[in-house]
Amino acid sequence: MAHRVCPWWLGYFLISPLRKWRQNPGKILDGFVREGMTVLEPGPGMGFFTIDLLRQVGPAGRVVAIDVQEKMLSRLKRRAAKAGLIKSLDARLASPNSMAIEDLAGMADFTLAFAVVHEFPDAGEFFRQVSAASKANSSLLLAEPSGHVTPMEFKGELGAASRYGFHLFSRPNIRGSRAALLRKH
Ligand SMILES: C[S@@+](CC[C@H](N)C(=O)[O-])C[C@H]1O[C@@H](n2cnc3c(N)ncnc32)[C@H](O)[C@@H]1O
Repeated sequence: MAHRVCPWWLGYFLISPLRKWRQNPGKILDGFVREGMTVLEPGPGMGFFTIDLLRQVGPAGRVVAIDVQEKMLSRLKRRAAKAGLIKSLDARLASPNSMAIEDLAGMADFTLAFAVVHEFPDAGEFFRQVSAASKANSSLLLAEPSGHVTPMEFKGELGAASRYGFHLFSRPNIRGSRAALLRKH
């Protein structure tokens, strides 16, 4: 069953620089993103990872950041603008069951799903939509907060991912998280 959606005001805590001590975006994302890539980031919140992703894809790339909360997206856009990176940001307001990414069919090179899948009403629907938007052999880094998501729930998410063509490649070690690197066949 889905967990409740993180309240918008928690977004401010999630972008705290102190978080970098436990979860450093540079280290977590190392090696996944190259210039010019199209990156999907469902549930970016206020953009703890998005600013790094935008830097990594550069002006020729694009980060499609999809959230259900307008307040998360407006703060994300302000932060991207301040960093001079807004041109590569494609911020989209989603509804809980639809990320509205049908136009991206087969285009995404990499997806970051950090602390978000457990908030989706249906994990299978999440992976179905991401799979349709992803290139063959592209990667999806899935990380869920270990304090909220039980090992059984995480196993269920991996099962849902595999039904939509994402197979387990490795289990990265990310503090405070259950994580998996998935590859699309
Ligand atoms: C716990 S926060 C994580 C934010 C960010 N990924 C991070 O690690 O800092 C979860 C985010 O997912 C968003 N979210 C929840 N359900 C969603 C859905 N169905 N579609 C898109 N975004 C969703 C929430 O609004 C929130 O911004």
